Amino acid sequence: MHTHRFLVTGGQKLKGMVKVGGSKNAALPIIAAALLTDEEVVLTNVPDIADVAVFSKILQAVGVETHYDGDCFKILAKTVKNIEVEHALVSKLRGSSLLLSPLLVRNKEVRLAFPGGCVIGKRPIDAHLDAFKALGAHVLASDEFLHLKTDQLVGCDFTMTEASVTGTENAIIAAGQTTIRLAASEPHVQDLCHFLNAMGAKISGIGNHTLHIEGVDKLHGAEHRVTSDYLEAGTLVIAAAITGGEVTVQDIRPHHLDVFWQKLREVGVQFELGDDYVTVFPSNHLKAITLKTAIFPSFPTDLQAPFATLLTKAEGTSSIFETLFEGRLQYLHELEKMGLQPRTLSPYRAEFAGPVQLKAATVASWDLRAGAAVVLAALAAEGQSEITDIYYIDRGYAKFEEKLRSLGAKIERVE
Ligand code: EPZ
Repeated sequence: MHTHRFLVTGGQKLKGMVKVGGSKNAALPIIAAALLTDEEVVLTNVPDIADVAVFSKILQAVGVETHYDGDCFKILAKTVKNIEVEHALVSKLRGSSLLLSPLLVRNKEVRLAFPGGCVIGKRPIDAHLDAFKALGAHVLASDEFLHLKTDQLVGCDFTMTEASVTGTENAIIAAGQTTIRLAASEPHVQDLCHFLNAMGAKISGIGNHTLHIEGVDKLHGAEHRVTSDYLEAGTLVIAAAITGGEVTVQDIRPHHLDVFWQKLREVGVQFELGDDYVTVFPSNHLKAITLKTAIFPSFPTDLQAPFATLLTKAEGTSSIFETLFEGRLQYLHELEKMGLQPRTLSPYRAEFAGPVQLKAATVASWDLRAGAAVVLAALAAEGQSEITDIYYIDRGYAKFEEKLRSLGAKIERVE
């Protein structure tokens, strides 16, 4: 698995149509929330990615029945065992922090071996623990090992200590009659709220930074189609733009990417937006810009590396300001191997002059979005590149090379 690599021969203008899959960052919290009921939950448009497979194994480890056919994911949590969730599984998946809330609600206790930060940053979970304390839980251990207990979770009106995405999702799943302020509002947080309302919850303010949750006695089973993955959509749009191709990306939700479209226009990429698709046209004379990430609805940190890769083709000096993660500019070292001359000004800031004709090289994937970025770079580079550590990409992108190949890219997976 870890020896898999991509071989990419650049220079092909991508052409045709491609459909975006279900959102990884929505599927994970929704699968966790499905544990709140002992009735069957049926999810569709669940992406066939490694993170979903690992999460499924963790659910089975605590006695939950799951069935997945590559699209439809069925969950039946008749009971949930109050056992320690083993490190071997949890360490593979940062998103396993999302288990804290449903296990705490169901069993009034949760013990989870928890991995600390990862390559893109420390990624603290203080925001999660502060939310659980506000809701009446006691944190008995919170380092490599998390242990939380409660006599009774109580709803309240509290403010997150930062607009953490999974911190907010944990708070929503654990909350009773509650108001959550400084809530993250990413499309996947919104989709979790819609799913919980389908289970009988009464959540209002969806899409804003203040959520009102009315307490309900019981949540019932539900069916839900997971929202489309705006991060995959953005990545595929950039694949079209960086190769100067003409591609239609289907099954998107345009309003999940408002600032992304603004930045594409600022760079000079030509595209036409429909109600559930975007068509990218060949564009030249791209212009350098300043790219700054922040919480939704600002420019998403998860599209920073792919977008910066597009900027290697833009005229002028582009400046990148990654305000959320202190370790998310590492992919620039890989682009340096391809001929870019980036200047890293701090763990959060970098700049580089363009346009640069990237040259093929052997490059690594630093995290799943950095991995996608170096694939995009290889699509635009002259010659054949090799991309290593692509299991990162498999964590969050379903059938990535198949989708690119269907658009004419020369990419193959080799052992
Ligand atoms: C979620 O991670 C996503 N994971 C990440 O996606 C994504 O990069 C991240 O949100 C940010 O959008 C899932 O949804 C499963 P955080 P999470 O707690 O919840 C800092 C991917 O690529 N921060 O929102 O762990 C915070 O300290 C993965 O799909 C602020 O500084 O992220 C942390 O360092 C990777 N101020 C970082 O941002 C804020 O107001 C992310 O925090 C909020 C957060």
